[in-house]
Amino acid sequence: MLNLFEREKLDLQSLSPSDTAINVEGLNLWFGKKQVLNDISMKIPKHRITALIGQSGCGKSTLISSFNRMNDLVDGCRYLGKVEIDGRDINHSRENVARLRASVGMVFQRPNPFPMSIYENVCYGLKLQGMSLRRTLDDSVEQALRDAALWEEVKDRLFEPANILSGGQQQRLVFARALALQPDILLLDEPTSALDPLTTLYIEELMISLKKRCTVIIVTHNMQQAARVSDYTAFIHQGELIEYADSDSLFTMPVKKQTEDYITGRYG
Ligand SMILES: Nc1ncnc2c1ncn2[C@@H]1O[C@H](COP(=O)(O)OP(=O)(O)OP(=O)(O)O)[C@@H](O)[C@H]1O
Ligand SMILES: [Mg+2]
Repeated sequence: MLNLFEREKLDLQSLSPSDTAINVEGLNLWFGKKQVLNDISMKIPKHRITALIGQSGCGKSTLISSFNRMNDLVDGCRYLGKVEIDGRDINHSRENVARLRASVGMVFQRPNPFPMSIYENVCYGLKLQGMSLRRTLDDSVEQALRDAALWEEVKDRLFEPANILSGGQQQRLVFARALALQPDILLLDEPTSALDPLTTLYIEELMISLKKRCTVIIVTHNMQQAARVSDYTAFIHQGELIEYADSDSLFTMPVKKQTEDYITGRYG
């Protein structure tokens, strides 16, 4: 088992199955005729934060969406290769996609609250899972909203519609909705790009504290954020995984010229 407090760098190539949250093997993905992911193989360690960085359009969102089969919703999407979670091929026809998406939660760049109350948004997934006891739901909603740093702002209007919240509040609500399900893996696609600096800092601290409970994968255009919060970073360029290493090394001594050009702002 991984020790959360150890600072030694894991060998990403030879990560053992029990320390691997997601094993991506030879993943190629097309939208129609356009190939968007090109032969990506990577092992993402459990209980760590892994950042995905790269130019707009390089395939970051597509890659994380293939970790909970969100690309299933896109017409004309086809793939080759494997994505394994806990040794299970998640694209197998017998995979229970609803259960997969509960255990692999996702927060998108643009907040997407459901058209219902704040309270109902947070407990939506729990109710789907069959939780109906009011007291338990109340406790879970409060805890998730506290975790997402929103409780104080909404505790007196839990039954008002979620769309009365500001953009940043809606984003934290979506965070709470994902956290309420206690996911094993949390996929965050530029989760703080709509948030003010203070809330961003809080969310970053939240991500770090979440490592105890789950594996976090974050897409970010903010290099300081990636360096600040992530343990490992993958640099993607035009659908290819160019470099994947511990974040200290990648940001201070990138091996590939393309990585260096990107992190020093020569393009992107
Ligand atoms: N639903 C879709 N149908 C067709 N093409 C798509 C679809 N979604 C994404 N693409 C294309 O796939 C490529 C990768 O897109 P993706 O959204 O993964 O990039 P990204 O790295 O997340 O970019 P950004 O940083 O701008 O969010 C782009 O060329 C995009 O136009
Ligand atoms: Mg994206």
